[in-house]
Amino acid sequence: MRPTLQTAGVVSLLAGVTGAIQVDFTNDDSIKDAASTAAFGLLKYYTGNNTGDTPGNLPDPYFWWEAGAMFGTMIDYWFYTGDETYNDVTTQAMVHQAGEDNDYMPQNQTRTLGNDDQGFWAMAAMSAAENNFPNPPDGQPQWLALVQAVFNEYVSRWDPNTCGGGLRWQIFTFNNGFNYKNSISNGCFFNIASRLARYTGNQTYADWAEKVWDWMEEVKFIDQDFNIFDGGGVENNCVDINKAQWTYNAGIFLQGTAMMYNVTETDTWKQRVEGLVSRTVAYFFDDGIVVERPCESFNSCDFDQQSFKGYLMRWMASASQMAPFTFDTLMPLVKSSAAAAAQQCSGSPPATDFKGQPGTACGFKWTAKAAFDGLAGVGEQMSALSAMQYTLVKKQEAKAPVTADTGGTSVGNPNAGRPPDEYMPMPVVITTGEKVAAGFLTTAVAFSVMGASFFIMKE
Ligand SMILES: *[C@@H]1O[C@H](CO)[C@@H](O)[C@H](O)[C@H]1NC(C)=O
Ligand SMILES: *[C@@H]1O[C@H](CO)[C@@H](O)[C@H](O)[C@H]1NC(C)=O
Ligand SMILES: *[C@@H]1O[C@H](CO)[C@@H](O)[C@H](O)[C@H]1NC(C)=O
Ligand SMILES: *[C@@H]1O[C@H](CO)[C@@H](O)[C@H](O)[C@H]1NC(C)=O
Repeated sequence: MRPTLQTAGVVSLLAGVTGAIQVDFTNDDSIKDAASTAAFGLLKYYTGNNTGDTPGNLPDPYFWWEAGAMFGTMIDYWFYTGDETYNDVTTQAMVHQAGEDNDYMPQNQTRTLGNDDQGFWAMAAMSAAENNFPNPPDGQPQWLALVQAVFNEYVSRWDPNTCGGGLRWQIFTFNNGFNYKNSISNGCFFNIASRLARYTGNQTYADWAEKVWDWMEEVKFIDQDFNIFDGGGVENNCVDINKAQWTYNAGIFLQGTAMMYNVTETDTWKQRVEGLVSRTVAYFFDDGIVVERPCESFNSCDFDQQSFKGYLMRWMASASQMAPFTFDTLMPLVKSSAAAAAQQCSGSPPATDFKGQPGTACGFKWTAKAAFDGLAGVGEQMSALSAMQYTLVKKQEAKAPVTADTGGTSVGNPNAGRPPDEYMPMPVVITTGEKVAAGFLTTAVAFSVMGASFFIMKE
């Protein structure tokens, strides 16, 4: 993810209320209908399957990683609703963006490609394996092997020379953020390691999940009360912690700890699940409705941040399956958030690119408990869809995500991925592409004007 100066634009205060998504959360068909309406509006933002466009890319201003997050959402959408409408575009995008080396590092994205960006595509591929999403034909990259490629590259980037370990935010030395270590990048590593451990049963993955967690505690990005902070700079040995707490950091570690609890059944992991559950519930919810604390009430969430709440919904729902003792705490909050989100899905923004059914654009501030707040876009739409679709997760779900031993069919390759010397130094990229260079310059100016606090507040 990239630092940006954009803030949420208020689209219209005169939002129409001609539509609104009506949902009866006691009726699965009603939830599926609502999810279908929201998904239709979401995929109307997607242009990657138009002639001449590149499969897997969202149009500006959305960065590459968010498309990966979107296809991850759609893989779960299919799993929980059974609606296959978007499977073909999803597969096309997931395979195309695997890139030249089948590791979610397409050369075109070099300037926007941090460990977290790569991770969101890898987590989508992991969901595809766990959901038995239809496998690509032979000869094309396979879901499990794609995740293993990213895992192996994360291992090769583990950096004990600063802050005692951890992944840096950025992969390439020339991208802003190379000198920052953050929770979301290490969260992506932890998340796929824990899920690969469950899916494959291979202890190496569990060992790495343990190692990432221990480091996160040592460096105090996770404190003793289970707050999870944004990150810290390598020049200061990561002691200059930016204490912003984002929903997606809580969620990504919550799902991973629940996976590790499911795999190990130990008290240690159970206590970590409990700690994260209670802190998440206490910190991120107002009257049962999820809030993006660092920016939502200031109207300052950028395009990336507008999508974060949806991932917390996703990972709370998954944790409630992997650690069923959390179900009665987590799922009522997903449901109350979803009900509030559905009320926000009543917009007809006149001046945006929303092309879904009129009167069903989803707003951002679910606590408003009223009609559309005038904010619309991929992040808002995807978050509302997520909240709604994950209410379909049931206690004692017969249809839990599979593993290699319980029906999983995705083909893996434990040796996938590239050694770092094949891609690390690529300074030539800095001089190519005017658009990219201009973005870099803007960011550099913003840094010098606004100082470090700007940099570390943004994902
Ligand atoms: C692209 O996919 C969307 C969603 O499935 C669909 O509505 C649209 O018609 C497709 N566009 C093309 C050019 O196939
Ligand atoms: C990279 O960009 C080119 C030119 O737009 C496009 O044809 C190609 O499909 C892109 N590759 C990937 C992996 O997105
Ligand atoms: C692990 O997950 C499965 C599937 O949801 C669940 O049935 C099982 O009870 C979980 N294991 C533990 C120890 O909670
Ligand atoms: C387990 O994973 C490690 C790390 O990728 C790999 O080296 C090893 O071959 C795997 N073991 C098996 C039995 O697949």
